Amino acid sequence: MGFLDEIKQRRTFAIISHPDAGKTTLTEKLLLYGGAIQVAGAVKSNKIKKTATSDWMEIERQRGISVATSVMGFDYKGLKINILDTPGHQDFAEDTYRTLTAVDSVIVVIDVAKGVEPQTEKLVKVCRMRNTPIIVFINKLDRPGKDAFELLDEIEQKLNLKVTPLSWPINMGQHFKGVYSIYDRSLYLFEPGKQHIEKGVAFNDLSNSELKNYIGDDAKILSEELQLVEGVYPKFEVDHYLDGSICPVFFGSALNNFGVKELLDCFIEIAPTPIGHQTSARFIAPDENQFTGFVFKIHANMDPNHRDRIAFVRVVSGRFERNKPYHHVRLNRKIKFANPTAFMAQKKSILEEAFPGDIIGLYDAGNFKIGDTLTEGELLQYKGIPSFSPELFRYVENADPMKSKQLAKGLDQLMDEGVAQLFTGKSSGRKIIGTVGTLQFEVIQHRLLHEYGASCRYEPITLYKTAWITSNNKEMLADFKARKAPYLAFDKEGRDVFLADSPYSLETSMEKYPDIQFHFTSEF
Ligand code: G4P
Repeated sequence: MGFLDEIKQRRTFAIISHPDAGKTTLTEKLLLYGGAIQVAGAVKSNKIKKTATSDWMEIERQRGISVATSVMGFDYKGLKINILDTPGHQDFAEDTYRTLTAVDSVIVVIDVAKGVEPQTEKLVKVCRMRNTPIIVFINKLDRPGKDAFELLDEIEQKLNLKVTPLSWPINMGQHFKGVYSIYDRSLYLFEPGKQHIEKGVAFNDLSNSELKNYIGDDAKILSEELQLVEGVYPKFEVDHYLDGSICPVFFGSALNNFGVKELLDCFIEIAPTPIGHQTSARFIAPDENQFTGFVFKIHANMDPNHRDRIAFVRVVSGRFERNKPYHHVRLNRKIKFANPTAFMAQKKSILEEAFPGDIIGLYDAGNFKIGDTLTEGELLQYKGIPSFSPELFRYVENADPMKSKQLAKGLDQLMDEGVAQLFTGKSSGRKIIGTVGTLQFEVIQHRLLHEYGASCRYEPITLYKTAWITSNNKEMLADFKARKAPYLAFDKEGRDVFLADSPYSLETSMEKYPDIQFHFTSEF
């Protein structure tokens, strides 16, 4: 197959949701359609159960699972589909944000009873920053839930998305009859407990009295509701979905495998083929001949005796080949990869070549950090893999003076993996770890001990937020730095960071120093 055909075949996306909305269940059903797994229950949920937040065995077990399910590739109707897994637990949200830089589109799963939940809001916000095309799947229609119109309103308001339904539910909960597909103008009937649905019944005209034979008195309500839908929501246009300005919405029940095949069949028709990415030098299109790619995730290997890791690389352009030397731009040196890994659902295998849209796993003994770029020699760096200003902070102190080197190395590598962010106080020299969840502090302490033989201790710090600061007004910047000296730090790259100890201190600083830019993501 030609290079361009290889690109056109690929669809790389992520399923995102608030925990428990049904992401794992939906993923599993999609894999079943692709023949990638044979039985339900084969995909282990990678969520850390709420009851087990400080259970180490659980976290270690989850780390193992999350390598296996990081990327689940499968073939469907002649297309190569890659689903990128995202951790459900909110303490690992930063991981999810980065994974979203490596996908071309997303499916958002929403629980019909719970509606839009906080984690969904955060994740969709990140997608909106890049205009990532979004399909919404409203799940659990076999249970009682919110009214469909009310739910669509909530999505528009809370997620700031424009939506248009491509299917419409006929009742819900115990009385759920199925959905009418606005996309292919057919009726799909639901039978509880049945794991596949009959082919849709074509129904172009909903005033047709035969509709009643299928769904009884719900026929009248359905045709009235659909009239309203047509009046209120815009007609679906693929281009508007692709530029992120409209999101099609589907209704179904992942557990009952209802509405999933329709979702998948529509997805493969409308979802984007691999997109290009902006670099520090220029925009790179996927069909350029030379290979380029970037590291969006690093996973420490499971064997604590070997400190090797897997770097996950998204291929952006060209053809990646095994054993061919590629240029590691940050280190400015050539590296060859003897055992690059392809991820098919639940299986890993050595790959000979990979194409734009693919995710490859590269074994790494410490050469990579998040955001690193590989090319065939061109000096450019992929952009758009930001770190967000953390939300929780603690001082980290060495608890074993004999192991300070180990501690420094361990912290360095864990930060390269993107587990947390490290800041060094400018005047105090003290190290501060910033995370998005409390769990990371425990993970860091545990991994430092078990993988690096280093012990650390945390001490509290009063810190509300960090902001990277820049300014063209040198005088103002110098004045700010002099006055705020105790509140300044460096990040790992040596950039200036302001440590705001309260919302008030941040607000007044921003007011008093209008020429200073306060950045809350690391890319500016
Ligand atoms: P997540 O990955 O988004 O966290 O959600 P997951 O798929 O694990 O689903 C969360 C719970 O919701 C699971 O139940 C799952 O069986 C259930 N579920 C998913 N889809 C549907 C649906 O369409 N209808 C109904 N009624 N339930 C659904 P659980 O009891 O928490 O776990 P399990 O013991 O069933 O695995």
